Amino acid sequence: MNVLVFASRKGGSGKSTLAAQLATYIAGPTRRTLLVDADPQGSLSLWHGLRNQEELTLKRGVRNLAETLKEAKRDGYEWALVDTPPLKSPIVAEAIKHATLVIIPTRPSLFDIAALQDTVHIARELRKPYAAVINAAPPKRGEAEAPVVADARGALNALKVPVWSGQITHRGELSLSLSTGEGANEYEPGSQGAEEIGRLWTALDRSLSAIHNAYKKARSSAAA
Ligand SMILES: Nc1ncnc2c1ncn2[C@@H]1O[C@H](COP(=O)(O)OP(=O)(O)OP(=O)(O)O)[C@@H](O)[C@H]1O
Ligand SMILES: [Mg+2]
Repeated sequence: MNVLVFASRKGGSGKSTLAAQLATYIAGPTRRTLLVDADPQGSLSLWHGLRNQEELTLKRGVRNLAETLKEAKRDGYEWALVDTPPLKSPIVAEAIKHATLVIIPTRPSLFDIAALQDTVHIARELRKPYAAVINAAPPKRGEAEAPVVADARGALNALKVPVWSGQITHRGELSLSLSTGEGANEYEPGSQGAEEIGRLWTALDRSLSAIHNAYKKARSSAAA
């Protein structure tokens, strides 16, 4: 089972938004997907409560994340997406401990990038793969990124933080869709927001295959 953990100490960076948007992309009748709302604020739970689609299960609470994930694996879930609070809290470290990949959404600003380093530090200490995703960015002009995005990318590169080469732009459909319990691909299929989430999903899917291959290789060379 793939466990994606959305973490960043910075409030409002887009953890819950990306978790919900990606979940609607991933979940399907043949791909069992579990959402875990490990944030006492309960944003994902609020969104999930507005949905009337059944293919996405949500578990709320954090008391026994290990057990929740173990059960999900036993029940045949392929994906678990875990949303975490914007705090320096044991909940976040516990979630990261179980991650296949940690996704660190960040707005393209100095303050956000400064705050992200705490999360990077935890992921590095726990030896977990992680990647930053630039979210709520100004739109590109043609192929050119806005200067603030290019700066943010430069700062992340200088910190040796892997960052997704794309961006999630600040778009109405990415927040409006959530207020009807949907994802952008359901609310406005083919919209630019839906397409960007689709591109992020493709990149994540590829990264996860690479992570699994690396683990496989490490296991077989340890056995040799
Ligand atoms: N790409 C985007 N386009 C438009 N609105 C966005 C985008 N990303 C986030 N938002 C909006 O920004 C606000 C904060 O986003 P969100 O709640 O996902 O952040 P968060 O990191 O989960 O916050 P917290 O740390 O408080 O849990 C929300 O109102 C959300 O709708
Ligand atoms: Mg949140």
